[in-house]
Amino acid sequence: MTAIPAKFRAFRIHDDDGGYRSGIEDVSIDDLAPGEIVIRTAYSSVNYKDALAGTGQGRILRRFPLVGGIDVAGHVVASTDKAFGEGDAVLVTGCGLSETRDGGYSQYARIESRWAVPLPAGLDLRESMILGTAGFTAALALLRMTENRQTPALGPLAVTGATGGVGSLAVDIFSSAGYEVHAISGKPEHAGYLRAIGASEVLGRDALATTRPMESTRFGGGLDNVGGAMLASLLAQTAPYGNVASAGLAASHALSATVMPFIIRGVSLLGVASAGTARDIRDEVWRRLAGDWKPRHLERILTREVALEALPGAFSTMLAGGSLGRTVVALA
Ligand SMILES: NC(=O)c1ccc[n+]([C@@H]2O[C@H](COP(=O)([O-])OP(=O)(O)OC[C@H]3O[C@@H](n4cnc5c(N)ncnc54)[C@H](OP(=O)(O)O)[C@@H]3O)[C@@H](O)[C@H]2O)c1
Repeated sequence: MTAIPAKFRAFRIHDDDGGYRSGIEDVSIDDLAPGEIVIRTAYSSVNYKDALAGTGQGRILRRFPLVGGIDVAGHVVASTDKAFGEGDAVLVTGCGLSETRDGGYSQYARIESRWAVPLPAGLDLRESMILGTAGFTAALALLRMTENRQTPALGPLAVTGATGGVGSLAVDIFSSAGYEVHAISGKPEHAGYLRAIGASEVLGRDALATTRPMESTRFGGGLDNVGGAMLASLLAQTAPYGNVASAGLAASHALSATVMPFIIRGVSLLGVASAGTARDIRDEVWRRLAGDWKPRHLERILTREVALEALPGAFSTMLAGGSLGRTVVALA
């Protein structure tokens, strides 16, 4: 059995009499929440939720202190669950990491075996974290839409927040799955990037600036990462029986819309909650991500590979709306 060092490095978040703060600390395995598996971590990633948690700009953690990082991938070094053995490659996304239990920004992580996904054939550990919660969310949205009869024949899929992590992976996954993708972005300077990863059209945010309850149909459906007025406008421009998946709130958590798209066009608004996805659906999504939905441009979408020290800067950029693609955290 591999020896676990007495102390190792982790990015930990506190909220106590000293205020809300986060940074790198030396921790021991007994500082971490209990679990059946200990992994030597290889990679984590940076998601919007990590930026909210790491800075305190969103109430993500439900207890303190906790190690940050909602994603992690690595090799098992110890397990009390016979289903996992030393050396097994596993990943976890969501499932309470950096919310109710210690997360992935650590050289070792202790996790619950019921949420550990064996690394699927077709992905390596690094690729699994380029995907991470962002790729899982994009694929879960497509799964929900296709289960509700979305087809390429209904028309192009819009993706809002397209240059972000979820957005970029959605552009790639949806186009790989045979859909025409219209990327909606506030960064016209990255139109070339969006085309390179699968968008057939790149539209400004003003494409979703309309405010009438119903508009001419322009999209077969879409994935929304920003909420607010853009989501309402996307609903109003979606074709009969198209699906709009709501995943994010980068602009607003509010939604002011009418029932017209639902009752006149049969449009469906589908919720996407990656963190709490049931195990059987979770396994299905990872199977697709490693197989027919595996993004073709992962290396292009990975724009930054950083160490723990760079996390505060990555969080600030993200919360300022400056994301481009995905940031992976190298831990080995
Ligand atoms: N439901 C779930 O399970 C789940 C899972 C993961 C993420 N999320 C949510 O999904 C959203 C995206 O997450 P992410 O990790 O992809 O974040 P991200 O990488 O920072 O991407 C967010 C993108 O949203 C756009 N944006 C930012 N501020 C905006 C504003 N004020 N108005 C309109 N667009 C704006 C920007 O894209 P452009 O500049 O290209 O427009 C930005 O790149 C977040 O709200 C996150 O909390 C939800």
